Amino acid sequence: METTRTSPKINQEATAATSATAAANEELAVRGGPAAVQAPKPTSYLHGPLEIGEEEIQAVTAVLRSQNLFRFFKSEADSPTAQFESLFAKKSGARHVLAVNSGTSALIAGLVGLGVSAGDEVLVPAYTYIATAAAVLAVRAIPVIVEIDQSLGMDPEDAARKITLRTKAMVPVHMRGVPCRMDELISLARAHGLKVLEDCAQANGGSYHGRPLGTLGDAGAFSLQHFKIITAGEGGAIITNDSVIHQRAACYHDSAYTFWKQQEWSIKPFLGENYRMSELNGALALEQLKKRDRILTRLRTIKRRLVEIAAGLPGIRLQEVPDAAGDCSTSLVFFTDSAARTQSFAEALRAEGMAAGSVFDKTIPDRHIFCHWDYIMEKRSPDAYGYPWHDPSRPCQVNYSRDMCPQTMAWLNCAVFIPLTQVMTDEHVTDCARTLKKVAYGL
Ligand SMILES: Cc1ncc(COP(=O)(O)O)c(C=O)c1O
Repeated sequence: METTRTSPKINQEATAATSATAAANEELAVRGGPAAVQAPKPTSYLHGPLEIGEEEIQAVTAVLRSQNLFRFFKSEADSPTAQFESLFAKKSGARHVLAVNSGTSALIAGLVGLGVSAGDEVLVPAYTYIATAAAVLAVRAIPVIVEIDQSLGMDPEDAARKITLRTKAMVPVHMRGVPCRMDELISLARAHGLKVLEDCAQANGGSYHGRPLGTLGDAGAFSLQHFKIITAGEGGAIITNDSVIHQRAACYHDSAYTFWKQQEWSIKPFLGENYRMSELNGALALEQLKKRDRILTRLRTIKRRLVEIAAGLPGIRLQEVPDAAGDCSTSLVFFTDSAARTQSFAEALRAEGMAAGSVFDKTIPDRHIFCHWDYIMEKRSPDAYGYPWHDPSRPCQVNYSRDMCPQTMAWLNCAVFIPLTQVMTDEHVTDCARTLKKVAYGL
């Protein structure tokens, strides 16, 4: 098997000749044959929202009945938001957890926590939701876009090439629940004195070599938005073991934080915004967090079954997962050897009745791919003077173009994406496994 990290080279050796013949003899649905998926499919591929039940309803109702939706000025026993923070700290092993009102605000307050300042450069991957780069801009720093590799996470080799004297931090993103190559990224960061903020928005509950995601770098930012593994409707959290990072982030998340929380401060408090979580969201977040491990256990079982099948199929190469045990398993991704084949593979799977797509689709301006980050590509700013790109005190040396990350586009163009949800039945998973085989041999 080709091991290059820079282009999708595919294993062409067919295995299991007998099953290959059987699968190849089945007419593909895309060519008029019968669809392989027969068992009922899930009605959606979400995670947290599909678990909303009596527990969430009762918890939110209790907050409404209390007529006190504000999280401060009460004991932990009376605050579901504070209980969420404590439970998250226990589960992640992080000393400090701060609940906030979105993943974006978690990233912004996290960057403030790390001390990222105007004109600093911050490394972000070319494949992540635009909010990762927007959060860097919100603290008036400059996002520097780094290639991804076949893990679909930040490529440590390209990250090394992008470091300058201005680089202050990196934000590796555990996209679709798959941990990045953290050993290499952390050593690179330490060698250059960079701070690390892990974007765990899509990887709540994931781990890397046994350590919870969000605790490998200096801090971790989580989202509890509707499409995430667990949800509070909207919400987020920052976790860290560093009390100064925590206090700086906490200060920034609330302009009056030191008034609500009178305690010993090791920093001199400064201005903040309002990223507070309300008790309604806190109640949801707490109930969902209690369900997180069950969701992940089921997702991992489903993915393991599909990986077992997909690993032996000809013409495809699985996404590299730097630590399979820590993968949240919200999707199965594999590469074919060309963009055209990826499109026809995904189309053939869909025709069989399976949820599938290509990661890159030129008909969709997907804000998870850097070339669609229009206001960044064009350096557009809400500021009349064009900060942070036009800062006279620290002239910007970073430029962007839509073709600046060819390696990223090579991987994304060739990637087939299969969403997974914990509510998939065993029968449906069996159908999906059969479908993968049928299409791989029959196309
Ligand atoms: C990778 C990533 N980072 C950041 C965010 C921002 O989170 P939110 O939408 O809660 O602000 C999201 C999700 O939307 C995301 O997927």
